[in-house]
Amino acid sequence: MSRKKIALIGGGQIGGVLAQLIASKQLADVVLYDIVEDLPQGKALDIAEAAKVNGFDSKVIGTNSYKDIAGSDLVIVTAGLARKPGMSRDDLLTTNAKIMKAVAEGVKENAPNAIALIISNPLDAMVTLFKKVSGFPSNRVLGQAGVLDSSRFATFIAWELGVSVKDVNALVLGGHGDTMVPIVRYANVNGIPVMELLERKYKDAAKAKEVMNAMVERTKMAGGEVVKLLKTGSAFYSPAASAVQMAEAILHDEKRLTSACVYLDGEFGVKGYYVGVPAVLGSNGVERVVEFKLNAEEQALLDNSVNAVKKLVEDMGRLGL
Ligand code: APR
Repeated sequence: MSRKKIALIGGGQIGGVLAQLIASKQLADVVLYDIVEDLPQGKALDIAEAAKVNGFDSKVIGTNSYKDIAGSDLVIVTAGLARKPGMSRDDLLTTNAKIMKAVAEGVKENAPNAIALIISNPLDAMVTLFKKVSGFPSNRVLGQAGVLDSSRFATFIAWELGVSVKDVNALVLGGHGDTMVPIVRYANVNGIPVMELLERKYKDAAKAKEVMNAMVERTKMAGGEVVKLLKTGSAFYSPAASAVQMAEAILHDEKRLTSACVYLDGEFGVKGYYVGVPAVLGSNGVERVVEFKLNAEEQALLDNSVNAVKKLVEDMGRLGL
């Protein structure tokens, strides 16, 4: 069986880590594309020269030509500007929308059968635009946000409870912005509700709630927390790792149920928008959206987040995109 092929559009911080992770896991051969001359070639060469030490046979090449992405099974897009301190993801809209349009045209022409996984921000709008410009079916266009947001939420819970993060299950829904919705009610440690564990730890329901609220707020602002510390850009290790988990689910047909930015056609009361919800990922990309009953408070928070996504998409429309 020949190896799968992944094209990475954008060879910046996330693109570089993606290339290294994908090659090291021998998940696929990698083509790293960027508009900056020599940058993707340099990163690819650097990664390829570690193949002996890391023990992989995956090919890694860098390019400035879309022609080299031909035959890709999966295209992961990180092209675009990253945040600087004080910026929200939404501040990137105008610049990144123009870049995303060019990317979608390049992918449509050169890898028309690929599944496209978008990481560029503002995520929900960028996925929407890629879908519109490429004309790809919705099962083949999705965005990475929920895996990372859920991982951040799980991490804070693990630290708080002093347990391995591997045993924590926590789901974050909604848009990939400050309105995202960490689902507290179902957060658990190997099936035991996190709220019960917090109440036992603090022997005080009000204090447990306060601690949970702080973790929810930290999750919502977690990307910004990293930006503030890095000063020159945004998170890149964790978004890359999250996208690789999704790439594995797709290329290995794992049917993983995970939060992903997917097209909704009435599910969760949302029609015609890309929003983060649970979905099953496999060789067909988004194989199905998984609905579950939200309580009134959760639904209201999700609706609020969907409204933020709608506003972004409208703003993008006003730019003529
Ligand atoms: N086509 C391809 N690549 C492009 C284009 C384009 N039209 N325009 C810009 N790029 C490249 C840049 O040259 C740069 O190498 O995109 C890369 C972006 O890399 P970084 O600036 O390092 O950003 P990164 O941290 O990788 O984040 C990329 O993902 O999480 C989001 O908010 C983040 O939108 C940002 C994106």
